[in-house]
Amino acid sequence: MHSYACFSVERGLVMALFGKKKRTLISHKPDMNALPKHIAIIMDGNGRWAKKRHLPRTAGHSVGSETFRKIATYCNDIGVKYLTVYAFSTENWSRPQEEVSAIMSLLKKYVLEAIDSVEKDNIHLRFWGDRSRIPKELLELMEYAEKKSETMTGIFVNVCLNYGSRDEITKAVQKLAGAVRAGELEPENITADMVSESLYSAGTPDPDLIIRPSGEIRVSNFLLWQSAYSEYYFTDVLWPDFDERELDRAIVSFQNRSRRFGGVEAKK
Ligand code: IPE
Ligand code: IPE
Ligand code: MG
Repeated sequence: MHSYACFSVERGLVMALFGKKKRTLISHKPDMNALPKHIAIIMDGNGRWAKKRHLPRTAGHSVGSETFRKIATYCNDIGVKYLTVYAFSTENWSRPQEEVSAIMSLLKKYVLEAIDSVEKDNIHLRFWGDRSRIPKELLELMEYAEKKSETMTGIFVNVCLNYGSRDEITKAVQKLAGAVRAGELEPENITADMVSESLYSAGTPDPDLIIRPSGEIRVSNFLLWQSAYSEYYFTDVLWPDFDERELDRAIVSFQNRSRRFGGVEAKK
């Protein structure tokens, strides 16, 4: 009894020490051989970043757009295959007119740069969202950038612009209902894959990791269908302050999760 008690105390000590050692050993560097294939980011917190500095909200959007460039470059460099970013939602039109205009100008600036750089950087750029409300000049540039980048084989960058997941799903339902009305499809033959293929994300694997900075713990109408088994990562860091190290942290967190997809065993 006595020796057993001793053994237990010793074992406890060893465990405590080992446990401590193990914690300090947790790497902040991602395993580059097990990267999430598809990372999606809700680029939030620009307004609060500006407010903290007594700057106009638009200044936050401007720095936030630089963060996007930096993170897209980093993802491309490390070999992430798909990056999807939420840039402007179907609900964001309700913001003051000058803020909306400033965001559209920043997007135009980005698209113009992209037109010059997508081939050099091997980026396949696409825009997800309802195009009917996008200013004509910006829309033409978007379409030109998409065309110019469509044969690129590096990272796929999907910019969600006037994007809302409910709107996306509604449009998919309308499309499938149209096929039913045309007699091309029986309602009972509609499959989940057909729904997936009717979304803006058709052909893109579902996101493995969805990151939301800024401290908000909500989804705000982003990729509701596609995120069925995504891993979420929330951080208080505001988007303009987000950097490569923060992305590393998110990826390390992702790599320490056990994804079971409803089963018992973890799946890669
Ligand atoms: C995200 O930052 C950018 C867009 C929604 C366009 P916000 O502008 O929402 O920043 P906060 O949430 O007000 O801080
Ligand atoms: C989500 O952020 C949309 C984008 C980042 C583009 P919001 O700032 O619009 O979301 P809520 O209003 O806080 O839910
Ligand atoms: Mg916000």
